[in-house]
Amino acid sequence: MNGNDCRFLRACRREQVDCTPVWFMRQAGRYLPEYRKVREKHTLLEICADPELAKEVTLQPIRRFDLDAAIIFADILLPLKCFGVEFDFVAGEGPRIFHPVRGAQDLERLGVGNPKQDLSFVFEAIRLVRDALDSKVALIGFAGAPFTVASYVIEGSYSRNFLQTKLLMYKHPEVWRALMEIISEVTLRYLKAQIEAGAQAIQLFDSWVGCLQPDDYLNYVLPYSRGIFESLKQYNIPLIHFGTGTATFLELMQEAGGTVMSVDWRLDLDQVWQRLGDNVAVQGNLDPVALFGDSIELEKKVDMILDQARGRPGHIFNLGHGFLPQTPIENVEKIVQWVHQKSKN
Ligand code: CP3
Repeated sequence: MNGNDCRFLRACRREQVDCTPVWFMRQAGRYLPEYRKVREKHTLLEICADPELAKEVTLQPIRRFDLDAAIIFADILLPLKCFGVEFDFVAGEGPRIFHPVRGAQDLERLGVGNPKQDLSFVFEAIRLVRDALDSKVALIGFAGAPFTVASYVIEGSYSRNFLQTKLLMYKHPEVWRALMEIISEVTLRYLKAQIEAGAQAIQLFDSWVGCLQPDDYLNYVLPYSRGIFESLKQYNIPLIHFGTGTATFLELMQEAGGTVMSVDWRLDLDQVWQRLGDNVAVQGNLDPVALFGDSIELEKKVDMILDQARGRPGHIFNLGHGFLPQTPIENVEKIVQWVHQKSKN
């Protein structure tokens, strides 16, 4: 099989498939004992920075489940290295940025660096994984969208209400715009290099964008995400636009770009297509918490998603957001089998 003809890529292009492709956000991670074993000896950043280790953990879920795509093991915060923002992952807490950007004076220390050099380990990992993968399994590259990356750079950690992020937008729009330009430029160079190294599709993660009102998305975010999608069009590969809590401005996200829109469980897939038109592929949208419930309820939810997508080309089965660390593995296995069997043409 030609590697560009696999089930996942065909579905992204809305071509005919033998059954619905499936992969999961955070499919490599703590719910897998083999991942936890690697983490006993290495930090998250060590794994990311070592192409052999990154390859190993990227492939772990592929060995275990019949998945249609792998996502390169990295993190949306890695590019911070390029613009000179230091950070670490604190156990039990998540990311911590040492000197958050809060005003014009903080911008002076930022630059765009040299993503091709600074993040060369990611591109090497992509080459290694692509070489090791069967041609039936696609390799997805990714980055954080400018808004979500900016929210970490400004807040310094995960935020409940995004107070500092919104304050910067509202009180210092020129600083906001300058920061978004820097992040967008680095992100674009980073993603281009991932594609050149062998990533066959790209996902832009705008995980926290749902905290915004539609008008703020339009003014402060859309132009930057659109700049990235526009520049990536030339590669002619699927571009997945992911967000959570985006029901109120889904059309604006589509306007920003992407050939596959990835939505969470707060939306029904049939309504997503009604709103966006049939010309777009849709990824999603199982609630990751559903994997903790009983099997009958889980199967019902999988059936509902498949029913809503039925008859339309361009559905990629996924979660609405990533796996939680305690996710029961046997339910992951079940979902993959159900999706493939129940959607068979
Ligand atoms: O399998 C995969 O999905 C590939 C690897 C991947 C990671 N991070 C590794 C990781 C991907 C695609 C990401 C994206 C990412 N990182 C996002 C966007 C997706 C989303 O979930 O919204 C965000 C917001 C981040 C930032 C981040 N990284 C946070 C908030 C945390 C801590 C939260 C947590 O779950 O502990 C991380 C750490 C992180 N990145 C882990 C993994 C597997 C946690 C596991 C560990 O510490 O070993």
